[in-house]
Amino acid sequence: MPATEAQLPTHSAAAVHAAEMRAALLAWYAAHRRDLPWRATRDPYRIWVSEVMLQQTRVAAVLEHYREFLQTFPTVQALSAASEAEVLARWSGLGYYRRARMLHHAAQVIVREQNGEIPRTAEALRALPGFGAYTAAAVGSIAFGLPVAAVDGNVERVLARIAGWSAAERGFAAQVRELATELVDTAQPGDYNQAVMELGATVCLPRQPLCLHCPWQGWCRTRGEHAMPARSTMQRQHSARAAYLRGQGSTQQVLLCRRSSQASLMAGMWELPMYAPQPGEAAAFTVRHAITVTNHVIDLFTPASNDLVPDGQWFDTAQLHELALTGLTRKVLRRLGCMPSAKV
Ligand code: ADE
Repeated sequence: MPATEAQLPTHSAAAVHAAEMRAALLAWYAAHRRDLPWRATRDPYRIWVSEVMLQQTRVAAVLEHYREFLQTFPTVQALSAASEAEVLARWSGLGYYRRARMLHHAAQVIVREQNGEIPRTAEALRALPGFGAYTAAAVGSIAFGLPVAAVDGNVERVLARIAGWSAAERGFAAQVRELATELVDTAQPGDYNQAVMELGATVCLPRQPLCLHCPWQGWCRTRGEHAMPARSTMQRQHSARAAYLRGQGSTQQVLLCRRSSQASLMAGMWELPMYAPQPGEAAAFTVRHAITVTNHVIDLFTPASNDLVPDGQWFDTAQLHELALTGLTRKVLRRLGCMPSAKV
């Protein structure tokens, strides 16, 4: 067990303890890592898809979509050959649709310009559409063993607590990156990067870190006492939507509207129309749905009459799974029984 005095006063102290810290972390990871499907493969395409899905989306939600996405697009060639609508339909529910568009675009570049081979250097990965420093480092280290540190929000929080830095300090991001680079295990960078992320996701939690379970506890300056940046101020938006339905059973149809192709979020995707309820009209149910920084609360109405339907298009409910629906629309249509529930 490391001595308490071993706490890191500055990032340079990390170099002294880096070897012990790596060993402690990797031993912890070997014992506690979650058994996740993208950890059972070395296929760079599958690792890449997982990393794109995992950005800003919880592991549980990703698990639900990962298998189906790879069943539909098992290779970079299959993804490249698909239409954008097919890709967005399979992405439906994961949110942040720009990520799906960039993934698709990068697959086309890889097939067209790289003979279908995902490049194996950090620089070449960075040059692909949608690859920032994090994605290039995550894919490069996990799939190809490149000795680069992947720094996402979890890693940033872990290292800030270890060193006692505040995100409000000048140069915070650069300091974190420097410490991450000093600590990365160059022999097992993929396991190391995933281990720090795992530590952040399961032990070094934003609000109530489980320090007694932490393999880095003896080197940590703050032991969870560290104030984390204030919780982002989520906005709340209340609105109403309608599910206009006609027909029954296998001939049932629902009316959907297409979002503008210029919309900043979920451009071109299908959704239920907005609705202005009559005074006193009761909603069928209420759904809560978070999109980026907004918590949406949506009252869902099922108007008794279809006499005044807004502009839109009727779709057979049996076809819905082929459409690029917004996540909220899918949630509501499942709740209405128009689509099967998610397979977990
Ligand atoms: N978050 C993003 N990628 C991850 C990974 N490979 N393991 C754990 N958490 C992650």
